[in-house]
Amino acid sequence: MKILGIESTCDETGASVVEDGRVVRSNVVASQVELHARYRGVVPEIASRAHIESILPVLREALEAAGCELKDIDAVAVAYRPGLIGSLLIGVTAAKALAWSIGRPLIGVDHVHGHLYSVMLEEGSGVRVQGSENARESKTGTGTVFPSLNPEPRTLNPSFPAVGLVCSGGHTALYHLKDWLDVELIGTTIDDAVGEAYDKVAALLGLGYPGGPIIDRLAAQGNAKAIAFPRSLMGRESLDFSFSGLKTAVLYHVHGVPGKDQKPSHGPPILDEGQLADVAASFQAACVDVIVKKIRRAVRRTGANSVIVGGGVSANRGLREALKAFEIPVHFPPLAYCTDNAAMSAGLAHLYLAAGRTSALDLDAITYSQFRS
Ligand code: KG4
Ligand code: ZN
Repeated sequence: MKILGIESTCDETGASVVEDGRVVRSNVVASQVELHARYRGVVPEIASRAHIESILPVLREALEAAGCELKDIDAVAVAYRPGLIGSLLIGVTAAKALAWSIGRPLIGVDHVHGHLYSVMLEEGSGVRVQGSENARESKTGTGTVFPSLNPEPRTLNPSFPAVGLVCSGGHTALYHLKDWLDVELIGTTIDDAVGEAYDKVAALLGLGYPGGPIIDRLAAQGNAKAIAFPRSLMGRESLDFSFSGLKTAVLYHVHGVPGKDQKPSHGPPILDEGQLADVAASFQAACVDVIVKKIRRAVRRTGANSVIVGGGVSANRGLREALKAFEIPVHFPPLAYCTDNAAMSAGLAHLYLAAGRTSALDLDAITYSQFRS
C-alpha cells in the first residue's frame, strides 16, 4: 500500500511516498528558508506564492524518486490543518485534484498529529539526510531529495498510552495519546512556540534564520549556568507553556532594561564569542528545563508508558540529551523527519485509511486561528 503525502502548511513544500505506513520510499522537501531569511520569519504571502511554484515539480520528483507512477498510488494524504491559509490551500487543492483524477481516496491529516507519527518512519540506509554529504539537490532545483533505496525496519512501536510533545516553530503542545487515532490536547503555549522563541532570540542576537539549529550549535560551546534565565512553569499543575518572558529576559540581558541601563537598544548586541555561547547555552537550558518538567507532569497526569516527541525542536541536541535518562522510554524521529515533511502525513494516513477515515473532496483548509488541536 503506497500513499502519496503532500505538505504545504507553512514554508516547506513537501511530497513523499510512504509504503505501509512506515517505509519512506521518497521524501522531497523544497525549503523556502532563503526567501524568508531576510525578514527573519515566514512571510505568508511569499510562502504561498513559492508553494505554487514548487508543488508540481516536488510531486513529480517524489514519484520519480520512489520509482512509481500515479497509477501505483493507493491514496493521497494532505496536511490540511493547522497552518497559514494561503500555504495550506496550495497543498489541499493539489491533493484534491490528484485524488479525484486518479480515483483514489483523499485523506486529510492534522499536521501536528503527523509530527508525532514521524517517530514511526523508517529511515532506510538509502535515505539522504538534509544537510549531510549524502543529500543532493533535486534535479528540478526545487529542493532536496531523500530517496529511500534500501529501507531497514526500525521496529519502533511506542507503548500506549503515551504523552506526545510537539515542539516546533508554530507549536509547543502536549498530548495524551491512547493510540495513534485517539489524540487529546492536554497543554499548549499561551504565547510563543518554543521554536519561535529560538528564532526570535537568534534574531535579537544578530544570528541567522532559522535560529534553532544555530543556537543549538552555539549552546554546545557555552556555559548553561552562566545566566539564570527564568523558567516559567505557569503554576504547580499547569501543562501549558509560556516562552515570551524568557525571550524578553534574553533581550534585557543583552540590551539592558529600558529606562534603567545605558546599553544601545538597536542593532546586534556587542558580545564576544564566549558571551554569545553562554547566552545561547543558558537560554537553551531554560527551554529544555521547562519542557522536561512539563513532560514529567503530563506523564504523571496520564499514567503514560512512553513519550513521543516531534517537530523541528525535537532535533535539538540539548533536549535529546536531557531526555536520555528519562523514567520511561522517549522516542524521537529520525533527524530527517523532525522538521516539516510530507512523509509523516503519508505514514499516519495509512492508519486512517485502514480505519475508514477518508475525507470528502470538499475538505477545507483550517488555519491556526480557526483551530486548536
Ligand atoms: O516543525 P518545523 O519545521 O515547522 C513548524 O511546524 O513550525 O519547525 C521549525 C522550527 C524553527 O523554529 C526552528 O528554529 C526549529 O524548529 N528548530 C530547532 C532546531 N532545528 C529546528 N530548534 C532548536 N534546536 C534545533 N536543533
Ligand atoms: Zn510543523
